[in-house]
Amino acid sequence: MPDRVMSVEMQPHITNKILAHYDAHARLLPWRSPPGTPAPDPYRVWLSEVMLQQTTVAAVKDYFAHFTTRWPSVDALAAAEDADVMAAWAGLGYYARARNLLACARVVARDLGGRFPEEESDLRKLPGIGPYTAAAIAAIAFGKPAAVMDGNVERVVARLYAIATPLPAAKPEIYAQVAHLTPPDRPGDFAQAMMDLGATICTPRKPACGICPVADACQGRLVADHFPVKAAKTLKPHRQGRAWWLQAQDHVFLIRRPEKGLLGGMRALPSCSWQGDGETPPVDGAWQSLGDVGHVFTHFRLTLGIYGLCLVDRPQMALLGEWWPIDRLAEAGLPTVFNKAAQAAQKGMRIK
Ligand code: ADE
Repeated sequence: MPDRVMSVEMQPHITNKILAHYDAHARLLPWRSPPGTPAPDPYRVWLSEVMLQQTTVAAVKDYFAHFTTRWPSVDALAAAEDADVMAAWAGLGYYARARNLLACARVVARDLGGRFPEEESDLRKLPGIGPYTAAAIAAIAFGKPAAVMDGNVERVVARLYAIATPLPAAKPEIYAQVAHLTPPDRPGDFAQAMMDLGATICTPRKPACGICPVADACQGRLVADHFPVKAAKTLKPHRQGRAWWLQAQDHVFLIRRPEKGLLGGMRALPSCSWQGDGETPPVDGAWQSLGDVGHVFTHFRLTLGIYGLCLVDRPQMALLGEWWPIDRLAEAGLPTVFNKAAQAAQKGMRIK
């Protein structure tokens, strides 16, 4: 039977099984209404969804309790001091979220009479509310049939339909399946049922297929760990550079990197910018090659050739910097790549 025909025929079965499982096993969470009961306060739904972006349920619970006690409504939060909200958020990370949280609360309080919009498209116009959060609020707080798709839901659906297209290209296909499965009468419960399924049964590793309510309909069941298929990671570009270990009288010459740019404002060995620009040493002399070190940054891989020169006296330097005692190098706060370089240099200087 072709996949798509099967998915259409199986849809009510899958939806009903997932909802029935949620009715019996829903996690009790402070921002939730129990299955089948009236929707929770939109303020609480919004706050929890913003807090849960990139964070776990366990990490959010205490923050949610603290925020809702101190600021029980969107109007109360909108009237809070910025510094108080930022301090209350401390530890949850990604501080742009806290700034957006306040900005959003103030728009809702000032321009919308303290009421969140009900439609996904209107929710998405608010600060800090992206496609996922807008769909979650619309479905959970307002009962709108929005398709809610986060990483957990992507995994569940990719397995259920054995979707062979790699992520992220598979997202539209997965979204279409979620939209198809979402029941118009209980979209909020369904969204949260899928989140629970992904968090407790259809987990990234070792999914518990034996207790899954939709194992009978799951096309990926026997090979769950093949799904979701992920696009091969593109190799990061490779850059090369040089770093100069200039030693005299048990001191090494360190510079401070420019404030703007990679490792900005940090102490370092003299080096180039690793963009293929000039690689002249800080002083003329018989520099020796002491080997290479490798380092991986977020956007590129670096191979750094280390060159050493040991002088009797400290020369007058054209370059701005400082002579640093080698036995106190640990206190210089060198970033990892230059720590590696310093270690390689000292080893090389001892051997040569
Ligand atoms: N993760 C994000 N939103 C959630 C919710 N409403 N319930 C459980 N986990 C979630």
